[in-house]
Amino acid sequence: MAATALTSEISISRTRLLQRIEELGALGSTGDGGCCRLALTDEDRAGRDLLVTWMHDLGLEVDIDAIGNITGTWQVGTGTPVMTGSHIDTVRTGGLYDGNLGVIAGLEVIETLMGNGLTPPRPLAVAAFTNEEGARFQPDMLGSLVYVGGLDLETALDTSAIDGARLGDELARIEYQGSTPVPASPPHAFVELHIEQGPVLEQRDVRIGAVTGVQGISWQEVTIHGQSNHAGTTPMSLRHDPAYVAAEITVFLRRLADELGGHQVCTVGKIDIFPNLVNVVPARVVMTLDVRNTDEQTLQIAEQRINVFLDEVSRDEGVRIERRTLARFKPVVFCDDVIDIVERVSGDLGTTTMRLPSGAGHDAQMLARICPTAMIFTPSAKGISHNPAEFTSADDLVLGANVLLHTMWELAHRDHFDFTPGSGV
Ligand code: GLV
Ligand code: MN
Ligand code: MN
Repeated sequence: MAATALTSEISISRTRLLQRIEELGALGSTGDGGCCRLALTDEDRAGRDLLVTWMHDLGLEVDIDAIGNITGTWQVGTGTPVMTGSHIDTVRTGGLYDGNLGVIAGLEVIETLMGNGLTPPRPLAVAAFTNEEGARFQPDMLGSLVYVGGLDLETALDTSAIDGARLGDELARIEYQGSTPVPASPPHAFVELHIEQGPVLEQRDVRIGAVTGVQGISWQEVTIHGQSNHAGTTPMSLRHDPAYVAAEITVFLRRLADELGGHQVCTVGKIDIFPNLVNVVPARVVMTLDVRNTDEQTLQIAEQRINVFLDEVSRDEGVRIERRTLARFKPVVFCDDVIDIVERVSGDLGTTTMRLPSGAGHDAQMLARICPTAMIFTPSAKGISHNPAEFTSADDLVLGANVLLHTMWELAHRDHFDFTPGSGV
């Protein structure tokens, strides 16, 4: 029976939501409950094909843009669309929910409104952005960055993968280089549902997070060139050992984060050592530094301290260090009007809610440059993510999707927001 208003009794389909999460997660399954669907691989293509099929089944207008972002739009009403979405690429050791939840829940919102005969006054769109994770190509959030005009298309297409492939070639190979031009025109508003990927909601026993912004991200690749030599014959005093320097840098980052405290986090997530043999002082180490903070000034202090340390340690050990920036994004503040709506609809649905910043990067932080934007978080069990053990309960997934449903409905009915493009970045 057709309804005339979106009431709290109307819910997205639990069965369909959970089935789709399983179905998408099976593409690239790692056999341990996890998923490996690195951007623009054959697994990513299979995931994209499934998503496009779901969009077509729903009667959405499907657009693929020049950087491979997929958008399905329900062309109803007038004006610019209210958009949701996230990503379906994963890290190599991904779970089932990171990114995928936001895209699948977007489909649920549209299907639920259609099924209840509810038509919003403006179009609704759901997007899956290319290479959000940045695990294969850097920077992360690359598709949404190009979407908002923060990176030009040619530079993005020329990006090299960690396996040496060129992004543009991979996009063409999997047949997802579309013709819709980038940058796109701004949506009316954007809201992304995502798992928290951290422990805060679970620890506070709160079921919905109204996300206030995203912390700044500084990624760099550090290459340490030393002197390769025989491990048995080279006296310690004569060594120029890049493995030793890599270890010093790793320890320094940990101590720096402890010392700065607050929201400061530092990670060495990737170390490649050459030639990687038991009896050879290595010639070279290539490592990545991931440094984040909600406060731009403190993030800059962390970067400066790291630079000074790299100079000191390379001088002391007689090695040469090269640095390459992989990603640098300032902290982002989301639009208060959209955060308020997330909080209010969560309250109307009778759930607990709190405001919190995001520790992870998200496509929403790019959309925040061009339109009123916020995010909805659901709890992550034990705060674990980027790991096959990533888990959010079915009840929380459904609740998150229902908060998304009501938020998009409200956004579609609201004409004006207190928002200036670029204000939150
Ligand atoms: C993206 O998932 C990131 O925050 O690294
Ligand atoms: Mn994500
Ligand atoms: Mn992720």
